[in-house]
Amino acid sequence: MAVLLAAPGAWAAGRCGKHPWCNRSLGPAARAALLEKALTSEEKIDLLAGDDLFGVGGGAHMHTGTSDGVPRVGLPTTYYSDGPVGPRQGQATALPIPLGLAATFSPQLAFRHGDVAANEAKSKGNDVIFAPTVNIMRTPLNGRTFEGYGEDPYLDSRLAVGWIKGAQSEHVIADVKHYAGNKQEGADPSGESGHPGSPLGAEPFGSRYIVNDHIDERTFREIYLPHFEAAVKDAHVGTIMCAYNLVNGFYSCENHHLLQTILEHEWGFKGYVLADYGAAHNAAASLNNGLDFEPWPGFAYAPPQVHIALATMQATQAQVNAHVGRVLRTLFAYGFFDRRAFRDDDAQIPKKAHARTADRIEESAITLLTNRRRALPLKARRLHTVALIGAGADGFTTGGGSADVKPFSFVSPRQAIAKRLGKRVKIRYADGSDHEAAVAAAKGADVAIVIPADYLTEGADRSCLTLECPNAHGDQDGLIEEVAAANRKTIVVLETGGPVLTPWRNKVRALLEAWYPGEQGGTAIARVLFGGADPGGRLPATFPKNEGDIPTAGDPAKYPGLGKDVYYKEGVLVGYRWYDAKRIAPAFPFGSGLSYTHFAYRNFRVRRRGVGARVSFTVVNTGRRRGSDVPQLYLGLPQPGPNVIQPPRQLKGFRRLTLGPHKKKRVTLTIDRRALSYWNTGANGWRVAPGCYRVMLGHSSRNIARQIIMPFAGGSCRQTVAVLVGGR
Ligand code: BGC
Repeated sequence: MAVLLAAPGAWAAGRCGKHPWCNRSLGPAARAALLEKALTSEEKIDLLAGDDLFGVGGGAHMHTGTSDGVPRVGLPTTYYSDGPVGPRQGQATALPIPLGLAATFSPQLAFRHGDVAANEAKSKGNDVIFAPTVNIMRTPLNGRTFEGYGEDPYLDSRLAVGWIKGAQSEHVIADVKHYAGNKQEGADPSGESGHPGSPLGAEPFGSRYIVNDHIDERTFREIYLPHFEAAVKDAHVGTIMCAYNLVNGFYSCENHHLLQTILEHEWGFKGYVLADYGAAHNAAASLNNGLDFEPWPGFAYAPPQVHIALATMQATQAQVNAHVGRVLRTLFAYGFFDRRAFRDDDAQIPKKAHARTADRIEESAITLLTNRRRALPLKARRLHTVALIGAGADGFTTGGGSADVKPFSFVSPRQAIAKRLGKRVKIRYADGSDHEAAVAAAKGADVAIVIPADYLTEGADRSCLTLECPNAHGDQDGLIEEVAAANRKTIVVLETGGPVLTPWRNKVRALLEAWYPGEQGGTAIARVLFGGADPGGRLPATFPKNEGDIPTAGDPAKYPGLGKDVYYKEGVLVGYRWYDAKRIAPAFPFGSGLSYTHFAYRNFRVRRRGVGARVSFTVVNTGRRRGSDVPQLYLGLPQPGPNVIQPPRQLKGFRRLTLGPHKKKRVTLTIDRRALSYWNTGANGWRVAPGCYRVMLGHSSRNIARQIIMPFAGGSCRQTVAVLVGGR
């Protein structure tokens, strides 16, 4: 009926044609229902699984996934590509890694990162991008640490939302992954795996393919789900990828609690659930519990498997219809039918503009961890000889697996520094493989810049936290020690995919963390070293002093697991929450990072608003240079019961801003009901505990400048006090 009532123009340009479901004045659900009914049972069964086994190879013009359309009804083929650093299909703009993006603490830059990645995925003919990766870093040993946004669920959520909005602004559908758990790839204590080029997934202990994550409901809700929830509710992500591992006894892709109770019913997710590659196991369990699509052919949703499930009445055709309906609804909702097919042609990519974005993000991601005697920024005109040493100095550093991107072009630190210094300054370069040569280069140079690199990859966890795991570039810690002994003015620029141990940190003048810096990394690193830009990053993950300090250390039940079982015994004490609660001093805390100038926070006010509050303060650049700051708002929640342990501090707000010398800015942040809430397992819901709360404003999680203690939810404090804790 509605078809007849359609307004003229309702069948506007696109590739849908004149079918009833092409009527754009109908909603996506109605259109999907019409198309679903026009398909035969066999066609629908075919649509449950993908059609390309080899696209995962990542070659030019190869899509990571393909779902063939149905020409009979004009349903076009859907194309999928990895991933969170850019498309994995031939060459692409290699952006800084997501952990570096997280260090910017900037949802705006996350939007631009997502926009670039999706624009390129689209220019390579893809409709869906398998990204972002939002899994929380439970252990820094995880091989995929570089792909995610670090250890804090609030930071993770804000960045995920920015990224997804950026990606979907390109009319590409984002795919938030991996739901849920998925905190480890697998351990190989021999340290043999995880090298560049070694096979994925050969680890003997705690492999992602088989582990069963035991996570209590409160920890799950407070630490491991908020970013998925934000992706659904705030960013309206189109698809979600269920993970390899089991959660509390059930595979993620057939987990009723995850897929039905939480995702669909509580969060109201209307998009579709697709399986990680090889993560779907059983057709009937998947059909019953909420898996809509399996992008790789041949596993649970291979037509013979589905037929068996239907014939044995373990599943129904109505379920098949519903899953296909969700896929179609999403495609309609995100404009797939009402536009032309995206063309696979790199010539469409604005490579220069994308390179500038990569550069801008990296500049804001580089994190200054120590700066003794104001060694940085370097003054080029005072230099005559510079020693440049290490695996990252002249190579392209990035991680492996589905987030590996082959860059269109690449500027190394060596090239960028040489360009900056010109011919007047002599650069002595040593790749660091020969320590004697490196020491000789460093001796007598005005400054020695060491740029070590590590290698993290999907499919294998690192076997230790030093720069030697995996040992892709020799003894880099020893190299730094020897160079620092040979040259008092040694500066280290790390290119790592996550936290590493820094046993030499007190022996070097300055330490920068540049992450895997993307294709413009050299340019951004050189600009920061020589003061053309402020190092804008803040740590999205704690850098521990010792490997034994990390939350999962010392108990195989926690990591890598006992047999198949991994127990999240640390509960909500993940990342800095652990170090704070256990009073362990980290090498560099979450949220820390220096600027070349100084910032002070003044006139800190907290005003109640409804259940929550509005926090305001003035940020003042008290130095003589322009610089970037990230004031951070932490809350200390009261303990509502003996078994509900509350971490001393939890990040609940932040703002990145750049200020000229002596400039100031008033910042307002909101504390809403959710920020004050904890998950009450008995009540199966979020609750605000009546009691006394600490509202803290910090330069980092360990450098709190202002604190106000006040009651919420009808609780009481002996007094409402403002305490100056430290800082300027
Ligand atoms: C990864 C996913 C990725 C997929 C396709 C899997 O091994 O876990 O993140 O999207 O491969 O490459």
